[in-house]
Amino acid sequence: MSKKPLIAGNWKMELSHKAAIEVAGAIKKLVKTIPVSSDIVVCPSPVALSAIAEIFQKSAKVSVGAQNIAAQEKGAFTGQTSVLHIKPLAAWCIVGHSEVRAFTGESDAQIVQQTALLLRHGINPIICIGETGQERDRDQTVAKITRQIVAILEHTDRAVLTKAVIAYEPIWAIGTGITPEPDQVSEIILLIRKLVASHFDNEIADRLRILYGGSVKPDNVAQYIGGPCADGVLVGGASIHPRDFVEIIKQVQEAYS
Ligand code: PGA
Repeated sequence: MSKKPLIAGNWKMELSHKAAIEVAGAIKKLVKTIPVSSDIVVCPSPVALSAIAEIFQKSAKVSVGAQNIAAQEKGAFTGQTSVLHIKPLAAWCIVGHSEVRAFTGESDAQIVQQTALLLRHGINPIICIGETGQERDRDQTVAKITRQIVAILEHTDRAVLTKAVIAYEPIWAIGTGITPEPDQVSEIILLIRKLVASHFDNEIADRLRILYGGSVKPDNVAQYIGGPCADGVLVGGASIHPRDFVEIIKQVQEAYS
C-alpha cells in the first residue's frame, strides 16, 4: 500500500473565532483549485472546531483536527477538552506538542493515554516528538527521540501504528525560522523507523507516516519530503496564511510524487 503524504496545519491560539472562519473559507476556496493527492488537516482551537468542521463538512479534501485532548475521558477536569467533545467534529488530533508538554508538564505516559483514547474513539493521533536546543547542543537528540518513541511503543500495539502519525519537530526549529538540514531530519526519521522495526517489524515501520515540523514555509518544505525524508509536514505559523498553506500542499505533493 503506497503512503499518502499528510499536511497538517496547527493554528495554535493565533486566530480569533472570526479570523479562523475566514482562514478556513479561504483555504477551502484555494484547495478547490488544485488536484489533491494528500491528506490535508487543519487544527483550530477547540472552541472553533464546530464552526470549522461545518465549513469543511462537504469537502472530501480537507479534514479537521483538534490540537490536544485530556488524558481522561470525563470527570472533574475544569478547562480540559475531552475526546468526547472532539469526537463528532474531528478526524485527527495532535498529541504531545512541545508547547503543551512545556506549559502543562504533560508526560510521555499521558501522551500514551491520549493516543489510546483517540484510537478507541476512531480519531487518528498526530504524535509530536522532538529535542530542545540544549539537548541538541549536548548531543542528546538520539537519546531523547529514542526515549519518546520507546515510551509510545512499549504501551502500544501494532494496530495503533497503522493509524497514528509521528511528527518530528525539533523544538528549536518551532516558530524560530531556524531549520535543520534535510540530512539531520532524514537521520531522525530513519532512527524512528529502526526503533519501530525492532519493536514490531519492517512492514509497519515502512508504513508509518512520519512528518517534519518546525518553521515550514513554501520555500523550504520540498527539501524535507520524500525518499528517506518525511511523509508530510506539521505547519504552524504558515498554516494560518491560506496562500502559503496551499503552496506548501502543492510543494509536498510535487516532492512526494
Ligand atoms: P511553526 O510551528 O511552523 O510555526 O514553527 C510548528 C508547530 O508548532 O507545529
